Amino acid sequence: MSTIPSVTLNNGVQIPQLGFGVWQVPDAEAAIAVRTAIEAGYRSIDTAAIYENEAGTGQAIATAGVPREELFITTKLWNSGTKDWSGQQGQDAVLRAFDESLAKLGLDYIDLYLIHWPRPMHGTFLNIWKAFEKLYAEGRVKAVGVSNFGPQQLDALRQESSVVPVLNQVELHPHFPQLELREYHAEHGIATEAWSPLGQGKALLTEPALVKIAEKHGRTVAQVVLRWHLQSGVIAIPKSVTPSRIAENIDVTGFELDADDLAAIAGTATGTRLGPDPQSFDWS
Ligand SMILES: NC(=O)c1ccc[n+]([C@@H]2O[C@H](COP(=O)([O-])OP(=O)(O)OC[C@H]3O[C@@H](n4cnc5c(N)ncnc54)[C@H](OP(=O)(O)O)[C@@H]3O)[C@@H](O)[C@H]2O)c1
Repeated sequence: MSTIPSVTLNNGVQIPQLGFGVWQVPDAEAAIAVRTAIEAGYRSIDTAAIYENEAGTGQAIATAGVPREELFITTKLWNSGTKDWSGQQGQDAVLRAFDESLAKLGLDYIDLYLIHWPRPMHGTFLNIWKAFEKLYAEGRVKAVGVSNFGPQQLDALRQESSVVPVLNQVELHPHFPQLELREYHAEHGIATEAWSPLGQGKALLTEPALVKIAEKHGRTVAQVVLRWHLQSGVIAIPKSVTPSRIAENIDVTGFELDADDLAAIAGTATGTRLGPDPQSFDWS
């Protein structure tokens, strides 16, 4: 079983640099996939209220036979579009949503709670963050962070709050490497976590330059891409429901990409997102 390094967050909490994502995994299937992942050695699981699989994820956590304190569980607050997230009632709604996630997961604390999308057009993320501060102060979450935030929203949080997000979870893979945002994060002590780290298993995994590097190392393209995340200091949370891939994706510590490999990977960047632009994204 490979040993995955940890990243120390700005509040001293440690997170495994490679975790397991469960977006688009139905609840019943999540129970099996997360159990398979934990057995394969994953200790960090990334779910969200909107994935509707917190219960299945919790079932796997409860039955996997690994002590709770050895696991790192992330979930996220959903946008819930028409809800008014301003003022005291907005903060109360956050606390209720958190309680629901906790109950579904069957846990008494969460390791990391994230605001899923900033929705800057509503101007409510600062108020939501106040409720996150409360959850953190009460020890109900070990760390608080954000997802899909840009420098403008991060600046606003840093100015208004003494609690700096421990990380920002954003779309990131060799086609969309987020170099500027990563620099901003590094400057302000915010870790970078990559969603869709494998480019959703699409064109990225047949990219000729990556196929060549994979052949050179006797590895798969997915392993090369995940190795690239680790060597870039990024936290990655690949998803798979396929047991062989779940094992393959965590077996990424026995080789090293060299400078030529890294330059060739940098050359595959297209600057094109797979997901929506967070600055305008407003699904409910
Ligand atoms: N914060 C956000 O807004 C946000 C947005 C998107 C995702 N996320 C999080 O990030 C996680 C990962 O992102 P993602 O699920 O979008 O995409 P991903 O992890 O980049 O890719 C998952 C896809 O790649 C396939 N795959 C996995 N391992 C493979 C391998 N070794 N070889 C070939 N194909 C492989 C999977 O297929 P099979 O499952 O069929 O094996 C699946 O179709 C999510 O599950 C979620 O936890 C967060």
